Amino acid sequence: MQRVLITGGLGQVGSYLVDALYEEAQISVLDNYSSTTREAVPQGVNVIKGDVRDRIAADLVEQNDIVIHTAAQISVTASMEDPLFDAQSNVFGTLNLLEAARRSSVSRFIYISSAAVYGDPVSVPVAESHPQEPLSPYGVSKLSGEKYCMMYHKAFGLPSCCIRPFNIYSPRQDPGNPYSGVISRFIEKAKAGEGPVIFGDGTQTRDFISVHDIVDIIMLLLKKEDACGHVFNAGTGNSITVNELASLVLEIFDADVAVQYMPERPGDIKYSCSDISKARTILGFEPKVSLREGLMEFTE
Ligand code: UD1
Repeated sequence: MQRVLITGGLGQVGSYLVDALYEEAQISVLDNYSSTTREAVPQGVNVIKGDVRDRIAADLVEQNDIVIHTAAQISVTASMEDPLFDAQSNVFGTLNLLEAARRSSVSRFIYISSAAVYGDPVSVPVAESHPQEPLSPYGVSKLSGEKYCMMYHKAFGLPSCCIRPFNIYSPRQDPGNPYSGVISRFIEKAKAGEGPVIFGDGTQTRDFISVHDIVDIIMLLLKKEDACGHVFNAGTGNSITVNELASLVLEIFDADVAVQYMPERPGDIKYSCSDISKARTILGFEPKVSLREGLMEFTE
């Protein structure tokens, strides 16, 4: 059985990865319990409380065959308030793991970056070659993590690869977190019988991808030898407006409430949509969960 280390294994992406892999691999989770919505892990999964910057993280990398690095400081807003903490977690944390991976014999190092590396897109859909001009310390730290992964691949032969997820959603996104995504917020409101709050005029677009499709693309990164040394967009290739999203959520939750409009959020990007041709060609990736299906999961 392969030994897989999942950093951030109690978080949104990590916890679904644990579910997808625990029957076929020996899983260790390293998590600092900063953003977990999961109470119990499947039997046999080894959970270690700790930080990616710590010595324990490096030791764990050396004890495993595969590293899937999902742990991160995940909030754009928090990164604006405390860029040093953001860089310590996302840059030094990643480098700590990469250094341990260089000394050991991991067969795959997978890094979760972000579409935030693009900043405000100059054109959509956004391919991987689009200019990377982040607008937040978070975008810079994620880009930096990616660059280290690619550099370790080129210089040291580390079998690393990265994805840049667009807007991920799932019922395990922490709704209590003030930085949680628009889908969790709209659903919380709908469930409480309140209208969703739209920042701006609602014509901004986003490419919402179900966490299950994110898990699928990571599985492909594990299987495909050609993935190493590459960065892939992880989106659906489709986008919708925030107004359309609000209507869909209200319809699914059968909520007869009025939408409220508030001033645009400073720094918000207007249009976002991925071009996933590269992942389709090299990995054979095809997103499977429609937004309606993904939202239905929140009703279960
Ligand atoms: C998302 C990611 C962020 C990533 C960025 C990359 C999430 C939670 N955040 O930010 O980590 O760096 O993409 O581009 O996935 N909105 C409302 N009402 C609300 C909440 C939000 O109208 O109650 C609007 C926002 O103003 C924004 C859109 O919905 O225009 C999406 O917001 P959000 O879910 O916070 O994600 P992004 O800002 O796209």
